[in-house]
Amino acid sequence: MQTITLRRPDDWHLHLRDGAMLEGVIGDTSRHFARAIIMPNLVPPVVTTADAKSYRERIMAALPAGDRFEPLMTLYLTEQTSPDDVEAGKESGLITAVKLYPAGATTNSHGGVRDIEKAMPVLERMARIGLPLCVHGEVTTPDVDIFDREAVFIETVLDPLRKRLPELKVTMEHVTTKDGIDYIKASKANLAGSITTHHLIINRNAILVGGIRPHYYCLPVAKREHHRLALRAAAVSGDPRFFLGTDSAPHVDPLKECACGCAGVYTSINTMSCLAHVFEDEDALDKLEAFSSLNGPAWYGLPVNAETITLVRREEEVRFPAKIETGAGPVTVFDPMFALHWDVA
Ligand code: DOR
Ligand code: ZN
Repeated sequence: MQTITLRRPDDWHLHLRDGAMLEGVIGDTSRHFARAIIMPNLVPPVVTTADAKSYRERIMAALPAGDRFEPLMTLYLTEQTSPDDVEAGKESGLITAVKLYPAGATTNSHGGVRDIEKAMPVLERMARIGLPLCVHGEVTTPDVDIFDREAVFIETVLDPLRKRLPELKVTMEHVTTKDGIDYIKASKANLAGSITTHHLIINRNAILVGGIRPHYYCLPVAKREHHRLALRAAAVSGDPRFFLGTDSAPHVDPLKECACGCAGVYTSINTMSCLAHVFEDEDALDKLEAFSSLNGPAWYGLPVNAETITLVRREEEVRFPAKIETGAGPVTVFDPMFALHWDVA
């Protein structure tokens, strides 16, 4: 039986939601992950340090007894965000990053930034105090095709911002294109990218071929196969600028399986099994630890976790439930469309 032992992984991009959904999903993350960057797109969003403090308390209260887990809190950037509040949040140790959602880019992002100029005072302060900006890197202008949103964002928003504020540390979250990978690789400093589990596994055919499959729909939407191959090559390369951010984003089934379904794929429960499969396929199991446990902490200036986890390759298929039941309703689990054999021991 094959086994590999890794430093305990972290998830550098996670949606935990609130209330009954939070209670229903948090154990799937805390079972395997030591820390996660928690997305602030609640309704209403987490915009101030005080909001983040009380959300953190709700997360800790929902944690299964005996689990150790550290939520790394973020603030949702708005055109009204106060630079002083952001700085106080960082100084208190509560805030790990600030999140830029272009208005309308995704779930609960209508309060996001419309005019980046209005956010410049906050961004300048962040550059000065060394607080990272996490970006949802897609433009939302109606004349841009949804499959081109990321490439256009790099050219028209991200690159000009980084030229203007080279000291600002930027995480390009859930990179989905070769354009994004190449842009990160060409950068000299202060830019890194997270990659989700599902974007390493599916391309856009998964959503559209043979019928419309809402459980593969997320944002940024999965792209063509050559983009997926670029993501896989970056993830398994060991390049310290690429690390795991699952973007696990639970929605109850009725909100996915309808005429206008929500974006989001739920992967917390089987991410480590899926990743081990992908890295084994790429003959790169020796790089899994860098991607899931080492590169992220190095980028965020945090220590690597002292604990380890062991993954075991079983002869028989390792099965996950098709859905988890939460107090908010059922949530469909990501189906990688291949049999899994790796399991966390
Ligand atoms: O697919 C997604 N779902 N992408 C996001 O950016 C947000 C997330 C959510 O909150 O559901
Ligand atoms: Zn997300």
